[in-house]
Amino acid sequence: MRKPIIAANWKMHKSMNEARDYARAFLPLVVDETEVEIIICPAYTDLAVLQAELPGSSVQLGAQNLFWEASGAYTGEISALMLLDSGCKYVIIGHSERRHMMGESDANINRKIKAALDNSLLPIFCVGETLPERQNNRAREVVKEQIKKGLHEISLASAGIVIAYEPVWAIGTGINASADDAQEMIEFIRAQLTILYGEQLAQSIGILYGGSVKAQNIADFMAKKDIDGALVGGASLNPNEFAGIVRLGRDV
Ligand code: PGA
Repeated sequence: MRKPIIAANWKMHKSMNEARDYARAFLPLVVDETEVEIIICPAYTDLAVLQAELPGSSVQLGAQNLFWEASGAYTGEISALMLLDSGCKYVIIGHSERRHMMGESDANINRKIKAALDNSLLPIFCVGETLPERQNNRAREVVKEQIKKGLHEISLASAGIVIAYEPVWAIGTGINASADDAQEMIEFIRAQLTILYGEQLAQSIGILYGGSVKAQNIADFMAKKDIDGALVGGASLNPNEFAGIVRLGRDV
């Protein structure tokens, strides 16, 4: 039985004061939500603030990126150990904004996933096609390649990874994929994981949908058999709205 996961991706939003205010408003709203793994992935500068606010709650902390080296002359980068030190349990890797705006390659994403796993951080590995790729019926082929290259030479002994299917055209646009389309792709992703890791492990890996998730559509996604949760951007920035998504996601 896979535990539902609702993760917030704050992207480049929120000052330290705003993060503190958010935590104080949000945590009381989700105290009883022990059936759902709730994750907040804030900006690096907010990690220490949230690390101080979260103890006593079941909400977990995640980062939005990492670099694969442990330390050294890598200006502007951050290591897995630094994220662990900041209280992170998870790290988003290969988000489409990083793939498309920062030119992150599948090979580098693969290194990052390995670095996270080597340091016992759980990667939230993002995959997803662009609109032209979908329109040209290439969505499956693209996602299959991303999975294959991202997980190249990575052996998993247990379900120590989360996958997020985020079609690029649905991110931040208000146009979500239909629950049927998301289920179809996520079932396909699980089939790819079965090829790589066998049925039992593939069945235990959490796979999320992301892209314009909000309170009005979360239940439709969660009702699908292969969709285990959501990675939420814009709608996670408001504590009441995000708590609503957690509640509605759990009720299905
Ligand atoms: P969105 O972002 O919910 O604002 O579409 C999702 C994401 O990028 O993870």
